[in-house]
Amino acid sequence: MSDIAYLNGEFLPLEQARVPALDRGFIFGDGVYEVIPAYSRHPFRLPEHLRRLQRSLDAIRLANPMADAEWARLIHDLIGRHAVEDQSIYLQVTRGVAKRDHAFPKGAAPTVFMMSSPLVTPSREQVERGASAVTAVDFRWLRCDIKVTSLLANCLLRQQAADAGADEVVLFRDGQLTEGSSSNVFAVAKDTLLAPPKNHLVLPGITYDVVLELAASTKMPVEVRAIAEDEVRRADELWLTSSSKEVLAITRLDGRPVGTGKPGKWFRTLHHAFQEFKRTVMRRAA
Ligand SMILES: Cc1ncc(COP(=O)(O)O)c(C=O)c1O
Repeated sequence: MSDIAYLNGEFLPLEQARVPALDRGFIFGDGVYEVIPAYSRHPFRLPEHLRRLQRSLDAIRLANPMADAEWARLIHDLIGRHAVEDQSIYLQVTRGVAKRDHAFPKGAAPTVFMMSSPLVTPSREQVERGASAVTAVDFRWLRCDIKVTSLLANCLLRQQAADAGADEVVLFRDGQLTEGSSSNVFAVAKDTLLAPPKNHLVLPGITYDVVLELAASTKMPVEVRAIAEDEVRRADELWLTSSSKEVLAITRLDGRPVGTGKPGKWFRTLHHAFQEFKRTVMRRAA
């Protein structure tokens, strides 16, 4: 049985979902997206994801095609059409179909697309082993805070990691840590969590916020500030966060062990807190 997707007002089998070649998402990458994890069929931090969607739409000057209540209804409807309990909801909005011209078209209806796939979070074994990463220069544009569908730079950077047999890339711009190709990156040094500030150089991750909240609740000292490349290379621990990876230790960087080469004690505390937090939120939603 095929997965059900949503396209411009109708639910249909994913492989039947078609958009015209002149869709500006296809031609220019002119669109924004969100990825929302759902645990036991409950979307996690949905208001925050919808707020970020609105922020992305505002940044690219595209009107939101739906009110939040309608987004929520459609997302729940999509989740209900899939068999698995834990899902990853992908949604994107593009500037629609128009004759190819860089300037915005007048009167084009936005294209709205959603699909759901099984949410695959790291296995217990992956959590115990941690991830490997390589470093690279961040050559993306200067609006990495907008969740745009034009992800070619991120794809090229992730492929650099894949070519080196690594899971993720850790990026530096002008000698300072930014993030990964599809994750935020944190360092731990002297028992303090170091987080790059949310500015135009990084995506404001929903999981990033959860991790900072959990660090505060576990009394872990936190510094949100620019982090120099050598601080990353000398860090006791490195973590990556995203909606699908949750919080995962980076245990090898450029082929060398990070700290002891095993997920560190602060990672264990935060990972545990994250799992507990998820359970509490889902119990409340049930
Ligand atoms: C570039 C980038 N940074 C950070 C993140 C993490 O964001 P979130 O925690 O909202 O999934 C992502 C998620 O895909 C991303 O693509």
